[in-house]
Amino acid sequence: MALLRIDDLTVSFGSVAAVRGLSLEIAEGESLGLVGESGSGKSVTSLAILRLLEESATVTGRIEFEGRDLLALAPEAMRSLRGRAIAMIFQEPMTALNPVMPVGEQIAEAVREHQRGLSRRQVREQVLDAMTAVALPDPAHRCGDYPHQFSGGQRQRVLIAMAIANRPRLLIADEPTTALDVTVQAQILDLLRNLRERFGLTMLFISHDLAVVSQVADRVAVMRHGLLLEEASRQAIFREPLHPYTRSLLGAVPTMRTELDRPLATLQGIERGQSDPGFTADMLSLPLREVSPGHRARLK
Ligand SMILES: Nc1ncnc2c1ncn2[C@@H]1O[C@H](COP(=O)(O)OP(=O)(O)OP(=O)(O)O)[C@@H](O)[C@H]1O
Ligand SMILES: [Mg+2]
Repeated sequence: MALLRIDDLTVSFGSVAAVRGLSLEIAEGESLGLVGESGSGKSVTSLAILRLLEESATVTGRIEFEGRDLLALAPEAMRSLRGRAIAMIFQEPMTALNPVMPVGEQIAEAVREHQRGLSRRQVREQVLDAMTAVALPDPAHRCGDYPHQFSGGQRQRVLIAMAIANRPRLLIADEPTTALDVTVQAQILDLLRNLRERFGLTMLFISHDLAVVSQVADRVAVMRHGLLLEEASRQAIFREPLHPYTRSLLGAVPTMRTELDRPLATLQGIERGQSDPGFTADMLSLPLREVSPGHRARLK
């Protein structure tokens, strides 16, 4: 059964259409990778799920979580879901952490916000458990340290600890490794895989990097200009990509077979707030067809 079901989601900011009729499902325990170039609508989609878009955004469609339409939920009910049943980690750990509060205290705040009535000792236990789960060194001592006393990768671990402290069912990770160097990135991806297994997390993993997504996602959805272009299992996306855009994304990913003396394919980008009217008009006229079970693509 789907834990999250997005149905015909549209988000626009004035005349800018950021998401156009997006429909997606994530089954319980599954990890869906959402890929697309800058400006394709990935973050706007995740912010719409959490109802964190600013007032100027016009949102239509349905976003069902555990069978309830999040877009119709009262603000109070949404607040209690956010951070508890649905947690999120962002790209830039330093801006998401409070620089003048010890990390243990920040994790404790996340715990107290959603689990009232815990004793100080119980809160501390949960903080140390969360720090241990994300493999932060020496939690009992380091919980008193400030964000700047941790490395970039460790700070991302602190954010992940905050996100999982309340045992969420859905974890949304928006470019969680983009700010990190490759080695640390691999460690964080490893950690996310591990947490997924341990806690049975359902995951929406967002990245512009198909190679990164392929390491954590069971299924991959490709977006461009706010449109879903293709969706399939990870294997199918890599073995039999159907949409030309997916193929061009794959062409930009180095593999063991990439010829070293030839440059990788590059993608024609777009500027933020811009779109390619010709491309979107073409694509909008095409239906998303289910080409084989679980494999959908927008094709002629
Ligand atoms: N608050 C906003 N006001 C106006 N336009 C916005 C706002 N937020 C996003 N947009 C526009 O919506 C579109 C989608 O943006 P979004 O942030 O979802 O892209 P993204 O796929 O996450 O890109 P990136 O890979 O750069 O993070 C872009 O054209 C962007 O300019
Ligand atoms: Mg983004």
